[in-house]
Amino acid sequence: RVKVPPDKPDSNLKLDSVPIRTVSAKSSDGNKTRVGSLRLEELDFVPMCEITGKEAVSAIHRARTQHCKQEIANTTCLIAFGQLYPERLPHSCSAPDLVMGKSLGCFQDNKASRLLQGFYSNLKNSNSPLNCINLCLQSGFPYAGVQYGSECFCDNEEPPSTARLPDSSCNMKCPGDPKEACGGYYTINIYQTGVAKLTPQVAKEGTPLGHHPPVRIAFLLTLNGRAVRQVKRLIKALFHRDHFFYIHVDARQDYLVRELMSLEMRLGNVRLSRRRHATIWGGASLLSMLLEAMTDLVNSAWDWDFVINLSESDFPVKTNTQLVEFLSANRRRNFVKSHGREAQRFIQKQGLDKSFVECEAHMWRVGDRTLPWGIVIDGGSDWLALSRPFVHYLTTSTTDPLLKGLITLFKYTLLPAESFFHTALRNSKFCDSYVDNNLHVTNWRRKLGCKCQYKHVVDWCGCSPNNFKPEDWARLQGTEGRSLYFARKFEPVINQAIINKLDEWLYGPYPPNVTNINSYWQSVYSEADMSPPPDDALITICNSLARINSRLLSSVGTSCIPVAGKLLDITSYHHLDEYRGSLIMYESHIKDLQSPIKIEVWIKPVEFFSILKPIGPISRLKTLVVSSDYDQKEQTSRNFMRVIGPFTEVTAIFHLSAGDSTQNVTFIWIDPIGAIAEVTEVSFEDVACVGFTKPSLKTPMLPGAWEIKVVWNRTLCAQTRFLVSPLQMLSKSPLTHHQA
Ligand code: UDX
Repeated sequence: RVKVPPDKPDSNLKLDSVPIRTVSAKSSDGNKTRVGSLRLEELDFVPMCEITGKEAVSAIHRARTQHCKQEIANTTCLIAFGQLYPERLPHSCSAPDLVMGKSLGCFQDNKASRLLQGFYSNLKNSNSPLNCINLCLQSGFPYAGVQYGSECFCDNEEPPSTARLPDSSCNMKCPGDPKEACGGYYTINIYQTGVAKLTPQVAKEGTPLGHHPPVRIAFLLTLNGRAVRQVKRLIKALFHRDHFFYIHVDARQDYLVRELMSLEMRLGNVRLSRRRHATIWGGASLLSMLLEAMTDLVNSAWDWDFVINLSESDFPVKTNTQLVEFLSANRRRNFVKSHGREAQRFIQKQGLDKSFVECEAHMWRVGDRTLPWGIVIDGGSDWLALSRPFVHYLTTSTTDPLLKGLITLFKYTLLPAESFFHTALRNSKFCDSYVDNNLHVTNWRRKLGCKCQYKHVVDWCGCSPNNFKPEDWARLQGTEGRSLYFARKFEPVINQAIINKLDEWLYGPYPPNVTNINSYWQSVYSEADMSPPPDDALITICNSLARINSRLLSSVGTSCIPVAGKLLDITSYHHLDEYRGSLIMYESHIKDLQSPIKIEVWIKPVEFFSILKPIGPISRLKTLVVSSDYDQKEQTSRNFMRVIGPFTEVTAIFHLSAGDSTQNVTFIWIDPIGAIAEVTEVSFEDVACVGFTKPSLKTPMLPGAWEIKVVWNRTLCAQTRFLVSPLQMLSKSPLTHHQA
């Protein structure tokens, strides 16, 4: 799901208009040269073509490694040579009543209109189950209230009128250049898109199972992060001995894969993929991973009927029995969710008309592209429920020109899994199994979730749905009686009460003797992790706390004197959806004892916020803390321990109660030697809200106790303190004297 590109690309930039010639990195006299605005002296290779497109040039310069720069350059040149993408792809959706690609010829406006009338009435009388046609009006002039271009009208309705907007569900491109063919007149090409009636006879829940042998589901879990307790809870909620669980864990998440391996060892129907990828948000790797995992599933001995992909933040909203009943009655259907807006708008918002190259765990935008002619482009959500025959087709038809072409196209596509499956479905012989419902309810709150939060991962503005909270309960309850089986997102570090409630709604209340039902623990660091790299400031602080703790233990006069050793684990502890501190587990050596013992210490950040004068807008200020990793969508810092080192990007986060008017206050950032490091003007909105401000402090920040003084109306009204820790380690190695 996407909003708008972060920096508006130059719409006049067309890579296919780039003149192609071979260039050399050095001119004949040995001086470094520049071609276009590409600085060749930065490259240790010679690009295959002259690259002048603004986006490609920017991507090449921003990429760090030569390998990535070269990949971007090569892809850009292949596109410019017309050698990367297929120009046209076949559409194999069978169309019993209508002729695919039938051209009604060249007409003037009124005649075209009459012809269309005739066409529509024929269509109405045809009783065709395939009721979506694509109407291409390529005159270059507005016609019947619709601008020229590829437009689509569905459901055997009357010809388009000014009152009716085109339906969004088909968008087949019109081939050829009509102006040339028609000498300036209108041309009308009618293309059968062959989409099944979008409301197929989906069985209602409760259809007696007796009629249908129960399906077996392969849950394809694509996981990231460290929420292992939640992942196990998800598996437990879905578990049935007849189902299968195939798990891909992001290649960078050592902890999660280690923890889940024990499930694989215990359960024959759980397996972890050994082909792991760094599946970045929105990346092409997400699609290649899904296709690879589906191939593994098809080749496995597991006898499944459906693949359903889920993430660590999905949870069922119906029982396993209900899901099986529903799918058993709809065995050969494929469930995907379409965007539900005008197709061209979707293509633009989604960046489908741009090429992206994935390397260095980033999707680099390299420029515009032309989508292949002849197919319907469709997309929406990447959460799917696909039937075995379709998955078999996707993974085994290696020579199928449609699939081959789509795989190439989507290798250079942002958020590819949001469109690849829809497009393959709509243009293949499986088109009539398409159901516009992915069985999911998604908690979109675009005001919060569309903050371009993935700019560091993709050259585009991405959106994410919010986590469900207790106030969203009605939304979840509203799924009752509807063909909705899953909801997203859920994250117990944000809210676990809603997950408990949902779980009990589905499977009944927990027995009263279950302890800690309202507590949650999540790993922050584990000694065995190679990846992701730990935060040096976190390791420094936790080592220091372990030493302090051991000193405290020694001072209580016990005969054993524990000396703090290796740091083992750091865990975040939450109770009743409040962060209650962190648990630091470390090894400790005791005199005369051969092997070390483990000590776990529970620590919590100290609050330093104080109001000095509750005047004006300051009377509304409830809290003020300094932290990092502020999540604008969930309006909270994910650095629960508030560990700050010299290189941390700090954020001040405050809670306000409602007020009468919006007012400005001043935050003065004071470093440990008492110098003013930064002054930020902060607007206190007139509503109850969570606000934040990010100062642009120079790094490395001076280690020590920092302060924020809050000033309003020239009066010091409130203040807080925060600690910038020095570093003991840099990338897990002890700091040298010079670095210190
Ligand atoms: C939203 C939409 O729900 C989804 O359809 C779209 O593809 C992306 O935007 P969002 O909440 O933003 O989802 O993404 P998230 O659920 O965090 O990640 C999507 C998938 O990618 C998950 O399976 C997640 O495990 C995986 N992922 C994400 C990784 O494997 N590695 C990452 O670094 C990030």
